[in-house]
Amino acid sequence: MSAGALAVTTDDGRRTLAPPGRRRVTVLARQQFGAYAVLRCADPGGPPPRPGQFAMLATAERWGGGDGERPFLPRAFSVLRARPGELEFLLEDVGPGTARLAELEPGDGLWVLGPLGIGFSVAASELAGRRALLVGGGVGIAPLAILQDELVASDAAVTALLGFRDGLHAAGAALLRDARIATDDGSAGHAGLVTDLLTAELDRDQAAIVYACGPPPMLEAVRALCAGRAVPAQLALESGMACGFGACFGCVVPTRSGYVRLCLDGPVLDADRLETALTPGAGH
Ligand SMILES: Cc1cc2nc3c(=O)[nH]c(=O)nc-3n(C[C@H](O)[C@H](O)[C@H](O)COP(=O)(O)OP(=O)(O)OC[C@H]3O[C@@H](n4cnc5c(N)ncnc54)[C@H](O)[C@@H]3O)c2cc1C
Ligand code: FES
Repeated sequence: MSAGALAVTTDDGRRTLAPPGRRRVTVLARQQFGAYAVLRCADPGGPPPRPGQFAMLATAERWGGGDGERPFLPRAFSVLRARPGELEFLLEDVGPGTARLAELEPGDGLWVLGPLGIGFSVAASELAGRRALLVGGGVGIAPLAILQDELVASDAAVTALLGFRDGLHAAGAALLRDARIATDDGSAGHAGLVTDLLTAELDRDQAAIVYACGPPPMLEAVRALCAGRAVPAQLALESGMACGFGACFGCVVPTRSGYVRLCLDGPVLDADRLETALTPGAGH
């Protein structure tokens, strides 16, 4: 963050307001972690994001106009990590937008709009007497890395439980400290689901708060598990996002109190606000 940048934080510290308009930043490095790429960017004018917030990204060159002319719109990415004047994002190449972003080289330009949305709550009142269990699936580990950094810095007790489909994806676990791993094919760590690890942790000690991000079926399993044991949980959800700032209503998801725009009222929602985490249209 530059000396002149203004960071305005609202919603009990869960939201840093974005500066108006998108800003062009420069890619400093791209590093591969198995199936995932990490983009590190210089962001001298950007305010520090809260864990769980995201940004809308588009490459400065060749965004649109490629095969089939996609992608047109920017794409949403959780902040993986933030240091003064730098931002990091994690991505897996699953389509035209992520393919373009995964080709970026040091020196290339990137449009960033953010930080956007409401992130995780790490209020002392929520953590009091509880250890934090971070539960991530696939590329959903991204917002848990910045969250772990913040919790560790505040001396909170933290355990990271991460699930991946195979060993190639499990290489992403190196982005968090001391993570315990589950893989679907058993090629690394526990053979099975990350929720098996969560169940074992909660069987051992239920004085916990769960922070989770991953595919909808994983989030729904986490939600149901925590609801059944009265363990508080915060879930970082996904839905298709066209604008990222409340204008298009493309990202609405149902809650017990009606529909909310996930880009404004989320992406992190308290689990007890949800009947289900199986949001329509999401699937990653
Ligand atoms: C708040 C938020 C944070 C995100 N953080 C990350 C991140 O840190 N790293 C990362 O790699 N991706 C992240 N995503 C997902 C990413 O934005 C999409 O995968 C992206 O749109 C893919 O663009 P594409 O052009 O490569 O592929 P597309 O052609 O747009 O999509 C490829 C496939 O993914 C599905 N898809 C696209 N967007 C979504 C979505 N939002 N939810 C579920 N399925 C989707 C499509 O239906 C399609 O099957 C995040 C999404 C949200 C809403
Ligand atoms: S993405 Fe446009 S309103 Fe949420």
